[in-house]
Formats: sequence, C-alpha cells, structure tokens
Amino acid sequence: KPKPTSPSKSTSWVSPNWLTSLTKSLTIGSNDDSRIPISSAQLEDVSELLGGALFLPLFKWMNEYGPIYRLAAGPRNFVVVSDPAIAKHVLRNYGKYAKGLVSEVSEFLFGSGLAIAEGSLWTVRRRAVVPSLHKKYLSVMVDRVFCKCAERLVQKLQPFAFDGTAVNMEEKFSQLTLDVIGLSVFNYNFDSLTSDSPVIDAVYTALKEAELRSTDILPYWKIRALCKVIPRQIKAEQAVTVIRRTVEELIIKCKEIVEREGERIDEEEYVNDADPSILRFLLASREEVSSMQLRDDLLSMLVAGHETTGSVLTWTLYLLSKDSSTLLKAREEVDRVLKGRPPAYEDIKDLKFLTRCITESLRLYPHPPVLIRRAQVDDILPGNYKVKAGQDIMISVYNIHHSSQVWERAEEFVPERFDLESPVPNETNTDYRFIPFSGGPRKCVGDQFALLEAIVALAIFLQRLNFELVPDQDISMTTGATIHTTNGMYMKLSERRSKFDISSPTSSK
Ligand code: HEM
Repeated sequence: KPKPTSPSKSTSWVSPNWLTSLTKSLTIGSNDDSRIPISSAQLEDVSELLGGALFLPLFKWMNEYGPIYRLAAGPRNFVVVSDPAIAKHVLRNYGKYAKGLVSEVSEFLFGSGLAIAEGSLWTVRRRAVVPSLHKKYLSVMVDRVFCKCAERLVQKLQPFAFDGTAVNMEEKFSQLTLDVIGLSVFNYNFDSLTSDSPVIDAVYTALKEAELRSTDILPYWKIRALCKVIPRQIKAEQAVTVIRRTVEELIIKCKEIVEREGERIDEEEYVNDADPSILRFLLASREEVSSMQLRDDLLSMLVAGHETTGSVLTWTLYLLSKDSSTLLKAREEVDRVLKGRPPAYEDIKDLKFLTRCITESLRLYPHPPVLIRRAQVDDILPGNYKVKAGQDIMISVYNIHHSSQVWERAEEFVPERFDLESPVPNETNTDYRFIPFSGGPRKCVGDQFALLEAIVALAIFLQRLNFELVPDQDISMTTGATIHTTNGMYMKLSERRSKFDISSPTSSK
C-alpha cells in the first residue's frame, strides 16, 4: 500500500540556522514540575516558527523529549502534551483549564461568543445552542443545504472538467463550506461559489487576522491605540464591523418575523419549514439573550464550522488522490449505496467506508492541530507532573494522532484501521487517542454536522467527477486554525460517467 501522507514538510518555518540555534537541552529545573523536560528555542526562532507550521517541530520535539515537555519560547512558556491520558485529564477538567490564549487572540472577532466564553456565561450559552443542532435539523440540512451546495459545486466545476484547467480544490471547498455554514446558521446565502462580496472578503480577512494573532509573539494588538494606526489592524477592525453588521441585520429581520408570527418552539426537534436555520430556532426558543450575545454565538459557529470542514474535504481528497485502491473502494460503496442519486440522511449510516476515510483524514490532519488551555489552579497531571496556575498548555492533537506509541502504522492512510461495524470513532471509544473534535465539556458542538456535511460533499464529488493531483506540485502544510496548504491544492478534473445515469430523471430522487 502506498504511503500517501507525504506533503512537503519543508515550509517557511525552516530557517537555515533554526536547528543549530535551538538549545536541545533536556534540562531538569528546580521548579515543582522539574520532571518535565525543557526544550528551549530562541525568541526570534520561535517567532518565525509561530508564523508557520508550529505543529511540525512540536512533533519532532515529541520524538526527542517524550510525550510531555516544556517549550520555553521567549516570554511565553508552554507545556506541550502528546499523551492521550494527559489530554483526557486536561480536556475533561474544564473547571481547572480555561481557553486562555485562544480567547485573547480571537476576542476581537468572537466577542463573548460561545467558542471563547468562560464560566457561567459559557454554561448558559452552550445549553441554549446545543439543542438547535438536533437530529431533525441535521436531516433537513442534508437534503436542503448540504446536497444542494455540493451539487452546485459540481456544476461550477463542470467547465473545468471539460477544458482540463487545473482547479485549486482547497479554495473551492472553502467556498462550499462558507455557503453551507451561512445557510445553516443564519439562512444567509454568501453564494461565494459564484460571487465575491464585501462580506466574504471580510470573513476571510477576519479569519486570517485570528490566525495571525494566534502566532504573533508580541500581542501588540492588545493596545487599542495601535489598532487604530496599524494597517493590518485597521483592516481587521473594518472586516469585523462588516460581518457584525450583516449578522445584526439578519437577527433584526428574523426577530421581526418571529414576533409577527408569534412563533414559539412547541416540540423538542423543532424546525421552521420556511427557515430551518439555527438563528430561527434560537429566536423561536425565546431564550433570554441579548442581540449582541446572539450575534457573537452565531459568529462562533460561522468561524468554527467553516474553514475546519473545508480543510477536511481538501485533505481527504488529497489522500484519496494518492491511494487508488482506497478511492476505488470508497467509490464502489457510494455507487452501491446511492445508485446514482444524491445522499439522504438515512443513507449516511451505510456510507461506512467513506466515513472511515474522513475520520482517518481527520486523524492525519486534525483541525486545529493543537488545542490550547491555561491552568486556572495548581494541578497534578497523570504521570504525577505538576503544573502551576497560569501555565499555558498545548495539547498537540497532531502528535497524539501521529505517535507510533499510540497508533500502529501511524503515518499511513489506513481507513480500515477503524472497524466498519463498530461505532464511528470518537474521543470516548478510543480513550482520547482520537480527538479531532476535542473532548470533555468544550467538545465541538458541530461534530455530527461537520461529518454529515463532509460525507455528503465527498459522496457527490466521487459520484460525478474524476480527479487527479497536478503532478510535481509542492503541497506544503501551514497552519492557523486549521492545517492548510501554502500554495493551494490543484487537481485536474474530468466528468465521471458511472453506470448510473445521474442526469436521467428516473434515477434521481
Ligand atoms: C469547538 C473541531 C466543525 C462549532 C471545536 C473544537 C474542535 C473543533 C477541536 C474544540 C476546540 C477546543 O477545545 O479548544 C472541529 C472540526 C470541524 C468542526 C475538526 C470540522 C470537521 C464545526 C461546525 C460547527 C462547529 C460545523 C458549527 C455548526 C463549534 C463550536 C465550538 C467548537 C461552537 C466551541 C464549543 C465550546 O467551546 O463550547 N470544534 N469543528 N464546529 N466547534 Fe467545531
């Protein structure tokens, strides 16, 4: 079996003197947690590292220092965790570990939204939002949003399939998932597959800024006055204003309709037929919430659910393009189960192998590759490692997923490693060896949504198009909130004629 997980790892983070200037000391300090080995890098090296794919050196250091080590990075200092039991402890003890740095870098965009809220505000908002993602809502999304948007993507790709122009599939999947999340969360059609709009530009600018802030070593953007004069910050503030205004307008309009119709939720799995969005559900639930909080929660979903799912699609297609026997198997399943028609909600459980291809892709390319927490109290980690209150912790999901101590043939793409007849893998049934959606109280609220969306999009893509990676392309990885490529992922497409004539009205649903 080929080893397809080989995008170039020589990204911008490798400076000529980087390796030599890194002090590879296994220092034992005199502090409480002296058993944690220290890897120290010089400030300028780390700042360069943080601007690129930090998860790659973190992996290298895991192999050098073991599953827990301290990264002393200039003024910042992280305990890097690559062990499932320690990750489980940190993620499940939410009261002891807050989001810390993540909140600091993305507050300009999320405000007090669910993704970064803490304490009782988070508890209340999580309890309000989770019920909106119920089973009936998901099934309506499959039919009315996921399938429709994926069909439109294929339609948009058809001219490229005819004339053989290479297509940057990373960009296309990003547009697809933005359209999906806009419709599903606030019934707003970004229509980014077709057009450019100020809102789309603003969304990308703000996402990029959050990415950059997470890797800026000096958080100068904390100084309000500087944000008013530095061009990058002015642009980011303007972008956030455009996005917020758009969402606020959507909330006002939706509120008017809900008030006019005197709408109330009268059953647990409530879906409004004309507008099945999460916004409509939240307004009809008559929860006591300010418009500003609602806006911030919806923005959390938009941001958390967009680039993540786009990246899963990109890397799964990449892995399939490098492994013809797995692709054949996945396609055979899609044809057998769907017989040329678009997938319905009930079909998803039968697309078992395709689902395992996606989970295996999430193992090799987790988004984000690193989770960040800050200890709120002194604590003792499994293995008897002590951490002090205020300690920043990086849980390297990438390391856990790639560790040969945790997984056999860890670097290979083997969807079969996840038994087809067992439940879909998650943090619980793998005991935190597989944590692409995190775990514990702050686990992703959109995990089922995202898996369904990815399965539907890939099934339709495999039904309708052949694809091959443009040869000799340097596919390098870099990160922000997700693992993405540095230069795009170009594929050549051609129309697929399967034994099912999908254009025939008798064979479609
Ligand atoms: C949180 C991954 C899709 C909404 C998270 C976290 C991860 C994650 C790892 C936890 C972060 C942490 O612990 O610091 C993913 C991946 C996705 C995906 C890999 C796609 C494959 C979505 C979608 C939505 C969503 C589609 C919305 C519909 C959220 C929200 C949170 C979250 C609101 C914050 C939850 C909280 O803090 O209580 N996601 N996500 N995600 N995700 Fe997702």
